Amino acid sequence: MSRLLEVKNLKTSFSTYAGDVQAVRGVSFHLDKGEALGIVGESGCGKSVTMMSIMRLLSDNGKLIDGEINFDGNMISNYSERQMESVRGNDIGMIFQDPMTSLNPVFTVGDQLIEPLMKHRKIGKKEALEEAIKILELVGIPSPRKRIKQYPHEFSGGMRQRVMIAMSLICEPKLIIADEPTTALDVTIQAQILDLMKNLKDKLNTSIILITHDLGVVADICSRINVMYGGIIVETGTTRDIFYKGRHPYTWGLLNSVPNPKKKNKEKLQPIDGQPPDLLKPPVGCPFTSRCKYSMKVCLEKQPPLFELSEGHRCACWLCHPDAPQVDSPIRRGRDGE
Ligand SMILES: Nc1ncnc2c1ncn2[C@@H]1O[C@H](COP(=O)(O)OP(=O)(O)OP(=O)(O)O)[C@@H](O)[C@H]1O
Ligand SMILES: [Mg+2]
Repeated sequence: MSRLLEVKNLKTSFSTYAGDVQAVRGVSFHLDKGEALGIVGESGCGKSVTMMSIMRLLSDNGKLIDGEINFDGNMISNYSERQMESVRGNDIGMIFQDPMTSLNPVFTVGDQLIEPLMKHRKIGKKEALEEAIKILELVGIPSPRKRIKQYPHEFSGGMRQRVMIAMSLICEPKLIIADEPTTALDVTIQAQILDLMKNLKDKLNTSIILITHDLGVVADICSRINVMYGGIIVETGTTRDIFYKGRHPYTWGLLNSVPNPKKKNKEKLQPIDGQPPDLLKPPVGCPFTSRCKYSMKVCLEKQPPLFELSEGHRCACWLCHPDAPQVDSPIRRGRDGE
């Protein structure tokens, strides 16, 4: 597989009255063509800001402080705003939790699909209409010829999410970034949308970055997972590595809320006791220390590097240091599978 995205040492801050919020504090990861990567971690850990930094869609008070972003062989972190517009319009599609943030309530769904199609594929209105109907069909909208004349409010939540996926597909993106695409939907609709994304991935060979709180969802779709905490990646590996051989105490906390990744379990992650770090003044050591029952002196003093445990499986915890005391994984299903 060849590389599609390579992010190195990404740092993003927001300036606020209280000071600078260091939302993303040195994040590095990659994604191969056709691959689906999951990003998990509790609220505020920097998942969305990481993606918005890549897309250069930060709010006015946000700033990319450092980092390199290489997309499909181009260093897009050096791109001008105009060049980024083209990346957003042609190469990377985005799906958000709330489809109404992307759909315009005053235009019909057809208007919103046809115009970008005409622009992107350089085709006339009639051809674009037929193409739009095909895309709506692809994402499972029934009677697309009739539905295309309707307004977003005439669609149910699940159908709106399908329309948004249709919109993200117009540019035939190499990458789709889906930020909590199903959180707002009820469980059966969630499953349908996720199935749709899985099918599209296989059919169109699109790469996917899926941000979610739900580890069950990730296990279903993604081959690799980044676990984020306090603005950094604390563990990364294949889905099997994370589920069966996870080594970070924070990963253990997340995993203990999902009994078995093979079951289609839609349980939400259980909150872990304690508070996430204050990103106005992030701790010098490991950001998880104050909530970690294994914490040692070194954890307060120095942020652990990402120790390589096996190829592609890395964990930022001092317990992974070769001289650290041995701690058995408390994951219920055990380390080596069921
Ligand atoms: N515009 C902003 N101004 C100030 N701080 C911000 C801004 N946007 C995000 N942050 C802060 O950046 C940090 C990371 O936020 P982010 O939205 O990436 O979290 P997240 O992991 O996506 O959480 P969630 O699961 O709730 O969506 C948070 O502490 C958040 O408060
Ligand atoms: Mg978010």
